Amino acid sequence: MKHLIEPLDFTIEEYEKLFSLVDDIIAKPEEFSHFCDNKLLASLFFEPSTRTRLSFETAMERLGGKVIGFSDAGVSSSTKGETLADTIRVIENYADICAMRHPKEGAALLASKVVKNMPIINAGDGGHEHPTQTLADLITIRHYKGRFDNLTIGFCGDLKFGRTIHSLARALNRYKNVKFIFISPEELKMPEVFKQNIKKENYKETDSLVDVIGDLDILYMSRVQKERFVSSDEYERLKDFFILDREKLKHAKDDMIILHPLPRVNEIAPEVDSDERAVYFQQTKFGMFGRMALIITLLEAKND
Ligand code: NCD
Repeated sequence: MKHLIEPLDFTIEEYEKLFSLVDDIIAKPEEFSHFCDNKLLASLFFEPSTRTRLSFETAMERLGGKVIGFSDAGVSSSTKGETLADTIRVIENYADICAMRHPKEGAALLASKVVKNMPIINAGDGGHEHPTQTLADLITIRHYKGRFDNLTIGFCGDLKFGRTIHSLARALNRYKNVKFIFISPEELKMPEVFKQNIKKENYKETDSLVDVIGDLDILYMSRVQKERFVSSDEYERLKDFFILDREKLKHAKDDMIILHPLPRVNEIAPEVDSDERAVYFQQTKFGMFGRMALIITLLEAKND
């Protein structure tokens, strides 16, 4: 049995298989519409989500499966003091596969240690990792760029708490000649632990988006993660540090793509949406196809 807790749980070859499954699903969705007949996905969201939760639920429904779960920890027995381990042991008796989001780092890993026969998918654990957003990001990059090697990607915004950035950087660092530019205010810099496996010559850090935007093949914008700040003053001070607008985009390459995991607050001006380099809404669609392929892959690994 296989889980997806962090992006490196899948090898490059396993990602390639997932991507070709995505191509097949996009080409002939009807051939997959009964793959999950009589199967149940547990969708456990202990932390708010719109896209990721609906994307998982839609993915399962499109495969013919059914969904149980909750979208708010306030309605689960965790409010009665139940441990996560106990909740997971119970859910394992009901469902075939489980996607979970939790505010605590390591929650999905813990769940994967407790289960015997239910694949766990980490749909975001605190400020740590978010491997299925990485799947959406990689599929989008593959679609628009046709490669993962020889790319320069700029991550801009909240690199400290941005779990989607942590996960995508780790995933891309396995490819050849990928250069990273980390663009953030000092207070929201990329944590050391997520830089330690990147060669020094392959990344640089700056607090100026305009200075580097012309070098980028991909600009990954992110929301300042309000819910992870201890001080609301600090959040207020930093929240609008970077705003991508048409003026800044004038300095970018014509074929640069702009990604954002969404939700967006102020960091991308709405005027950017009509620029053809802005592909963040298409990104959500690729995320759904990626989750369909992932559910199929994990259920097949379980049957083997
Ligand atoms: C991201 C997340 O939850 O980490 N959103 C998502 O899953 N699409 C990014 C964010 O909330 O800012």
